Amino acid sequence: AQKDGYRFFMEKEIYEQSAVVSDCMLGRIKDNEILFDEIEKSIIDGITEIKICACGTSYHAGLTSSYLFERLSKIKCSIEIASEFRYKEPLLTKDTLFIVISQSGETADTLEALKMAKAAGLKTLVVCNVDNSSMTRTADATILTRAGIEKGVASTKAFSTQTVVLWMLALYFAKAKNLISDETMQKELHTLREVPKSLCISDKIHEKTKRLSKRYLHGHGFFFIGRDVFFPLALEGALKLKEISYLHAEGYPAGEMKHGPIALADPELFTIALMPQNLLYDKIKSNVEELSARDSTICAISPLDFDLADDFVKINSCDHYMLEFFEMLIVLQLFSMEISIRLGNDVDMPRNLAKSVTVE
Ligand code: AGP
Repeated sequence: AQKDGYRFFMEKEIYEQSAVVSDCMLGRIKDNEILFDEIEKSIIDGITEIKICACGTSYHAGLTSSYLFERLSKIKCSIEIASEFRYKEPLLTKDTLFIVISQSGETADTLEALKMAKAAGLKTLVVCNVDNSSMTRTADATILTRAGIEKGVASTKAFSTQTVVLWMLALYFAKAKNLISDETMQKELHTLREVPKSLCISDKIHEKTKRLSKRYLHGHGFFFIGRDVFFPLALEGALKLKEISYLHAEGYPAGEMKHGPIALADPELFTIALMPQNLLYDKIKSNVEELSARDSTICAISPLDFDLADDFVKINSCDHYMLEFFEMLIVLQLFSMEISIRLGNDVDMPRNLAKSVTVE
């Protein structure tokens, strides 16, 4: 792999997302349905519940999809961090489809969780970027994310392709169970086709994140906040910043701030607020207003102008929250990378981290 003129592999991989997400959807989106050649429709027969297990960024993709599985496929869905799942003596029932998500397919905790589910007789499925990895060899079924090799330790294109695969899977199950109207299906498919466009990076957005990085690199505490699928996106934004800039950041559900963390609010607390137009806008707005009233420094990411923000990143207006999700993902990834570059860190190989965590 070459950097092809980009400063870091991470930067190249952020820019590749639009193309790899198109590859990921290729042949899988048909007129009125989703097709996965690699799995049988019967995979969902007798299943009343989905359990997802993963680590790190893959966990965030899983958490995002847990909202989509319940909303679109109407299947109960829970998600656990693999290292927790392994030792909690989990109750596993055969009406559960066990899904693991992993870029590498080699993460020790996720692999062990998969083996436990298999041993308990559950149907297992892995969403993975590496064919012939330990997980693809172990699971009953595999869906490949087709992101191409990811070199940067901080995962970027793996996350966007995982999220798209899981969203398509939610629609696939919804159709198999006959629980989605044609109208909703058409809208979702149309939106999926728009994702590559939302992942295209304009010079304006990249420049804006560069400018912001000048000021935000001085932050000592960051809260990334969001609601619904924007909560896992907030977790992912915070993880990216931590990994490569070594600044303390937390992702939090916006509605939960008042239950403790708002006590930290002061001008030194940097809040990155994810404010989509198409999902719970008024709710997140009032959460951000509460923080602003306590003088927290706020950077809002939204298609809608927001006067109380100290800084504002305007994303394109879209008609579906998942498009806003991907527009914001780009901003968060670039924001972390630009801060890391300014701090002189090794963006691709951050300290203390490895690309593949094969020990527990
Ligand atoms: C993400 O930026 C990380 N470096 C890390 O959290 C990673 O997602 C995690 O270790 C899981 O890896 P996997 O997807 O290969 O299983």
